[in-house]
Amino acid sequence: MKKLITFENLPLSNGLLNDWDDTAPLFNLNVGFDEDTSLVHLYDNVPAELLFNDTYVYDSSQSQTMINHFRDFALKIKDMCKAPLEIGSNSGIFIEHFDRDKAVAVEPCKNFAERTNNIGIKTYPEYWTVDLAKEIVKNHGKRDMIFSANTISHIQDLDECFNAINECISDNGTVIIESPSFLDVLENKEFDQFYHEHNFYFSVTSMEKILLKYDLFLRDVSYHKDIHGGTNRYFIYKRNLGKSERLVAALEYEKNFGLDDYDKIMIHINKMKKNMEEIKELILNMNIFQKTIVGYGATAKFTQVANMCGLDYTNIQYVLDTTPEKQGKFVPKAKIPILKYNKKFLKNIDYCFLGAWNYKDEIMKKEKKWIDSGGKFITHIPWVHII
Ligand code: TYD
Repeated sequence: MKKLITFENLPLSNGLLNDWDDTAPLFNLNVGFDEDTSLVHLYDNVPAELLFNDTYVYDSSQSQTMINHFRDFALKIKDMCKAPLEIGSNSGIFIEHFDRDKAVAVEPCKNFAERTNNIGIKTYPEYWTVDLAKEIVKNHGKRDMIFSANTISHIQDLDECFNAINECISDNGTVIIESPSFLDVLENKEFDQFYHEHNFYFSVTSMEKILLKYDLFLRDVSYHKDIHGGTNRYFIYKRNLGKSERLVAALEYEKNFGLDDYDKIMIHINKMKKNMEEIKELILNMNIFQKTIVGYGATAKFTQVANMCGLDYTNIQYVLDTTPEKQGKFVPKAKIPILKYNKKFLKNIDYCFLGAWNYKDEIMKKEKKWIDSGGKFITHIPWVHII
């Protein structure tokens, strides 16, 4: 393993403070590169129990983009799946489209597991492990489709994760994994995608190599630009069915970009650092000229930008968010208050820093009136600019 970058003394990105006086625990965030598998990952990370628990605040159903993305895909494949399983089902916006008697879900955050249990989908409120996979097979039989979006990158023990998948998937079954693309993280300089919850930063290149360790084969990959800043959807099988044309093309593109090459990745990490400095400078300049700035979307990424750049409530007055679980709380360390989204809080505001930059199009549409009246958004993706 070779070190790529360390961010010092960061709070947990979704560890929102209930009270102003609360103190957030701080941890270093260490990012490394594995030369054998080309996998970028955290090392010396915090224990999973600190990250995913019964007060977990991320709710996928807060964005129409996500609802549409998961619904469209579920409807496309549902007739072909007689025994689906979702690992990390969160609010249920994917699995709810399947036959509720046959679908099974796994979600360790009990507040979310309860939601899908309540709509009749058997949801295990547990971490994904080999023991749980065996229990699911015993109770429901092998699965012909396992889906997991934005979850595998959070599971710290990849051996346990893929061994459990192997235990649970039928011989002719399809495993479908969605995970943010590390190529996009580098191309768009998304430094705020680095946070303690994201233990792994997969590329097509590293995913293919990792799977071989578990006798699993990557057959195909599709790319979704609007999801989490660029997401790959991987199609994986127990048998080697060859590689689709677009998989071959994706691997070639990543090879040319240098995703298997530590030195080339470091060049992009340094560009990211520059992006971080530039957004900080822009916001500090706006403060000097007494422009009012608030945040839009109290995302995990927003917590990272604020704290990685050393910004706080004196620089950004508050951040608006539609998620009830986040409202009334404070961004950890930066202590920026999170207010319930209400259009009136945009009145007389000069600039909104786009915390939820991954929903830029959805938000621009929603805030057309404010933009027409002179309101402006600031973003650092893919470069620092005012929209
Ligand atoms: P997201 O970017 O998906 O997550 P992450 O925390 O992984 O960085 O979170 C989107 C957040 O933005 C969520 O808290 C809801 C909020 N949001 C709004 O407040 N308004 C909006 O119009 C949209 C699209 C999102």
